[in-house]
Amino acid sequence: MDTEVQAAVSCWWDPELDDQLRCVAVHQETHDVRSFTFVSPAGKQFRFGSGQYFLFDFPVGDAVESRCYSISSPPTRPGSFTVTVKRVAGGVVSNWLHDNLTPGATVRAQGPRGTFLRPVAETRKYLFLSGGSGITPVMSMLREIADTAEVSDVVFLHAGRTPQDFVFREELALLAARIKGLRLFLLPEARGAEPSWPGLTARISAELMALAVPDMAERVVMCCGPAPFMAAARSIAASLGVPPGRYLEESFDAAVLEAPLPEVTPATRTFKVQFAKQNRTIEVGAEQTVLSCAKKAGVRIPSSCANGICGTCKSRLVSGSVDMTHGGGIRQREIDAGLFLPCCSRPLSDLVIER
Ligand code: FES
Repeated sequence: MDTEVQAAVSCWWDPELDDQLRCVAVHQETHDVRSFTFVSPAGKQFRFGSGQYFLFDFPVGDAVESRCYSISSPPTRPGSFTVTVKRVAGGVVSNWLHDNLTPGATVRAQGPRGTFLRPVAETRKYLFLSGGSGITPVMSMLREIADTAEVSDVVFLHAGRTPQDFVFREELALLAARIKGLRLFLLPEARGAEPSWPGLTARISAELMALAVPDMAERVVMCCGPAPFMAAARSIAASLGVPPGRYLEESFDAAVLEAPLPEVTPATRTFKVQFAKQNRTIEVGAEQTVLSCAKKAGVRIPSSCANGICGTCKSRLVSGSVDMTHGGGIRQREIDAGLFLPCCSRPLSDLVIER
C-alpha cells in the first residue's frame, strides 16, 4: 500500500481528541423530523457501532446545551454520520436544531458512545422494538444489515402516534423488500390523517406481541423509545419468556429514574453546594449525588442518563472536591481541566459549581 493511501486509511476520528463536526446535509424526514449529516472538517472517518450515539454541544443563545443523539446512519458508511431529530414542542435544543442548523455550520460533539450494540447471537434472531424517535439506532442496524447482506432473522416492530409520524417509512418498505429475513410491523396508535391505513391501530400488548412474534422468547430483543413504551416492552418481554440477558434497551434518552434520595439523617454529614451563575446554595449529604439534590431543589443542570454515561450534566467545579464514579461520560483531560459529572458525584467538601 503506498504511503498516501496508508495515511488516508489511518485517518480515523479519535474519540479522545476530536470534537469538531461540520453539518453537510439536512433532510426533512416527516412534518416534524429532520436528519442532520455531519463530517469531520479534517476529513476523518468515523468508526462506530450501530446503536451508538454522539453527545453534542450546541450554542443556544448565551448558553451551551448538551444533548445525546443516536446515529441513524450505518457504520458501513464511515465518511459521515447522521442523526435524526424530532422537533419537540417547547424543546430548546430540538427547536434550535430545526431552526438554525444548516449545511456548513460547525458544531462540537463527543463520541461515539453507548453500549446499545447488537450482540451477534448464534441464531441471529432479533426483535427490534422502537417507539417514536427511538427508531434511530434501529435504523442504523437495519441499514447495516442491508449494506452487509447479513443473513439474519429480524422482526422489527415500530410504534408511533399515526402513520404520518413514521420516520423512514418509504425506506423501511424498501428494506423489507430487500432484506430477506426482515419482517416489518408498523403500528400506529391511530389512523390520524390517513383513514385508509390498512393495518392495525393499537399499542403494544402481550396479546399482540404473542400473535405477531410467537417465537419472541428465542430472540434477542432490542428496544428503544420513550420511557413508558420501554416499560411496557420490558414487562411484555418478561411475560413472554424473554430471558433478562436477551433483552437490551437504550435508556440514555428515556427519562431514567434516579434512585430515590437517601435520607439525610442528623448523623449524615452535609456540605454546602453553591451554583454560582444561578446564585443558589443547597445542602447535599455526603451520600447523595449533586444532581439529585440540585433537581430536587429546582436548580437547573441539563441531564440525561443520570449514570455518568452520557456526559450531558458535565459542569465546571470551581472549588471543592467530589467522589466521582462515572461510566465513561467524561474524559481524563476534562477532569484535569476542572470538569465533573454532578449525576455521579458525591461531595467530599463544600463546593462551588459554575452553573
Ligand atoms: S446525566 Fe449523563 S453523565 Fe450525567
